[in-house]
Amino acid sequence: MGANRTVSVDLKAHPYKVHIGEGLLAHVGEIARESSLAGLAAILTDEHVAKLYSEPLRRSLEQEGFVVSSQVVESGESSKSLAVAERVCEALAQSGINRRSFIVALGGGVIGDLAGFVAAIYYRGIPVIHVPTTVMAQVDSSIGGKTAVNLRAGKNLVGAFHQPRVIIADTDTLKTLGRREWNEGFAEVIKYGVIRDASLLSQLEQGITSMPDLVEHCVKIKASYVVEDEFETTGNRALLNFGHTLGHAIEAVAGYGKLLHGEAIALGMIAALDVSVRRAGLSAEEAKRVKAVIERYELPNRLPGEISLAAILSTVFADKKFVDGRIRFVVSPQLGKAVLADDIVQADLELALDSIR
Ligand SMILES: NC(=O)c1ccc[n+]([C@@H]2O[C@H](COP(=O)([O-])OP(=O)(O)OC[C@H]3O[C@@H](n4cnc5c(N)ncnc54)[C@H](O)[C@@H]3O)[C@@H](O)[C@H]2O)c1
Ligand SMILES: [Zn+2]
Repeated sequence: MGANRTVSVDLKAHPYKVHIGEGLLAHVGEIARESSLAGLAAILTDEHVAKLYSEPLRRSLEQEGFVVSSQVVESGESSKSLAVAERVCEALAQSGINRRSFIVALGGGVIGDLAGFVAAIYYRGIPVIHVPTTVMAQVDSSIGGKTAVNLRAGKNLVGAFHQPRVIIADTDTLKTLGRREWNEGFAEVIKYGVIRDASLLSQLEQGITSMPDLVEHCVKIKASYVVEDEFETTGNRALLNFGHTLGHAIEAVAGYGKLLHGEAIALGMIAALDVSVRRAGLSAEEAKRVKAVIERYELPNRLPGEISLAAILSTVFADKKFVDGRIRFVVSPQLGKAVLADDIVQADLELALDSIR
């Protein structure tokens, strides 16, 4: 594991490490031991990932003496539901998983959010470790302890904060991603470039030379927001929602699974760039630069034709509080910076949505 790196998420109550590098899947058992885990290991994964990585993961855990059970759910956003969470809990109980056991989330953000949610509620909370296998999950969703399932009314409306014991991001697993799944993860990398570190945008423009380096860079950024504002109470962590207010609404209105999360967020970001140009002083050139990177990753820049703007707006209204007709909305005044504006009005959102119609 020599060339691999670790980033610490230094939360006071429960600090943990993110291991990043090639070939780490074979070391999950060892790392779980070092992380003081014991008892039964319950792997939760989806159909696609199970075929590729369940067996090597199981071997690694068994080599360290863990007794392993595994559960496979359907691939895709529709598995982030209360119904699936209930089925998973029932199956865990059938397998004898208890508070001395732990869950291993093997997969993308859908599995991470579902497994994290189940780990948060099963026996009022058991440990979870994340073994993220998508760009999205390695650079963003596995870090930070936000877990959730969806309701028809909106994304992530039922959930809990539950930090993982440890995260193991094997960048070799990314090699089997389909083109669309590979590209969508870069939406969150672009987001970090806009809100925090414009050098990421230059890297994306020039072409990525090392995925472990890129993942490490992004994990450090995400970890810093999480450590500063674990429960999203100071407003700082909320800056990570750049592109997400409209993006989540677009994702829900399109129908879960129609657009991948990163694809919906790309659309939400283009709209948020439009708001930023009109209301926060971002230059049109800067916005254009980000849009070019979004296009480079073959992410959508137009809403699918059948989506109605009114439906998107009413989903935003249901989800977010409008106070005196204004909404809190993350804007970027300059690439590499973001602020929470509290004076954005419905007309701003309408114009922004028009820009992606
Ligand atoms: N909790 C958070 O902080 C947070 C942050 C960002 C996103 N998310 C959530 O993450 C979810 C999106 O995650 P995602 O984009 O990883 O989607 P996903 O988990 O659905 O994975 C995308 C597809 O790739 C397949 N796949 C996964 N790993 C693979 C591999 N190595 N090789 C081949 N195929 C593989 C999956 O089976 C799936 O079909 C959304 O629900 C979003 O809300 C959560
Ligand atoms: Zn996201």
